[in-house]
Amino acid sequence: MAKPDLMERVVNLCKRRGLVFPSSEIYGGFRSTWDYGPFGVLMKRNVKEAWWRSMVQLRDDVVGLDSAILMHPRVWEASGHVQAFTDPLVDCRNCKERFRADQLPESGACPNCGAKGSFTEARQFNLMFKTFVGPVEDDASVAYLRPETAQGIFVNFLNVQTTSRKKPPFGIAQIGKAFRNEITPGNFIFRTREFEMMELEFFVPPEDAPTWFEYWCQERLRWFVDLGIPEDKLRLRPHDPDELSHYSAGTADVEFAYPWGWGELEGIANRGDFDLTQHAKFSGQDLSYFDQEADRRYVPHVIEPSAGADRAMLAFLLAAYDEEEVRGEKRTVLRLDPRLAPLTVAVLPLSRNERLNPVAAEVADMLRPRFMIDVDDAGSIGRRYRRQDEVGTPLCVTVDFDTLDDRAATVRDRDSMAQDRVPIEKLVTHLEERLS
Ligand code: GAP
Repeated sequence: MAKPDLMERVVNLCKRRGLVFPSSEIYGGFRSTWDYGPFGVLMKRNVKEAWWRSMVQLRDDVVGLDSAILMHPRVWEASGHVQAFTDPLVDCRNCKERFRADQLPESGACPNCGAKGSFTEARQFNLMFKTFVGPVEDDASVAYLRPETAQGIFVNFLNVQTTSRKKPPFGIAQIGKAFRNEITPGNFIFRTREFEMMELEFFVPPEDAPTWFEYWCQERLRWFVDLGIPEDKLRLRPHDPDELSHYSAGTADVEFAYPWGWGELEGIANRGDFDLTQHAKFSGQDLSYFDQEADRRYVPHVIEPSAGADRAMLAFLLAAYDEEEVRGEKRTVLRLDPRLAPLTVAVLPLSRNERLNPVAAEVADMLRPRFMIDVDDAGSIGRRYRRQDEVGTPLCVTVDFDTLDDRAATVRDRDSMAQDRVPIEKLVTHLEERLS
């Protein structure tokens, strides 16, 4: 499939099947904002759950946090965001469109109207959204919508470290919304002004930072592969020194082969002691750690794997999308890992029939507490299988007229389309084994 087609098809599928809708659509949409529909919200929750499971639940050296979006404005002075979280902005004098100066084509032509030599001088544009807290809109009441969740972790370093009694190396993980007034949002949910981040700040003794940086690069790459992204669609790309963020002593991106080329999926940064040192300076609090065993005090260094939940979802969708011909007809299938698929099981009565409906309801009630299920009895069975394939449901359970006699149902596999007959009493164990 041609690559531009792939993007278009995924966007269309998302709209048509209730994964992602343009936000405020009845008003004509709103500037690259998107809403997650019934299947989209399930899938995004699964992405975040898979991240939390691997970063927090399965580890004994990471704890979680859920900090506020609005924080003291001094946080953003200390972190350097007020001063340095900027992109260079240029205007085309001809068509008045705005662009990031660092993303212009080498030809120098305006990507919108084609005019040459039409750009204004670049000026730095701060990406933080400003708002006012309370009824008075003056300088004293300015607050920012957080552009990263990381700072909520740094300002809670002492709270978490002392209450959890963790010692470096240990990490604090957080998932939450972040906001950036991007100059050029686009490519569907790849770059938006409101998005969700999944961030880990991993605090280590200074001399161990390079080893942990390498560890987290490999670990994060492995996470995407484990959840179904083929290895040849992923790569690690170290940043050049002139690309580094103001806080970073070294960064590598996990990149994905998007339809428009390689691009960032996740960043892993060695933030050194920049953040804790800055917050200690600005708050007057001592944020160093005393290692009793080694009898020494130090400011921990931080390794930060930072991923976008929306961007990860896009990569999983693009990698999973497939079309094939089955008996002369096109079949669209999302080959999602069962841990990410919006639904894990669909229950399909062979036809709408008063004898089948109660058995289908019984099967659905039995499965519902264990799996995310859907019951669909509208249309031909072939059509219903296709509908489930399109949203990536790994298994369908079909209740037919034989079920009334043999108390067994047909389990149909999304990828192979193979069908097995399974006694209703053994369905839960059978499905659990197939999905694990
Ligand atoms: N705390 C580190 C940090 O903020 P970043 O590279 O700016 O680093 C981390 O962002 C990740 O967040 C990116 O790799 C991407 O997955 C996601 N991300 C960043 N900006 C985004 C945007 N405007 N829309 C969607 N996702 C975004």
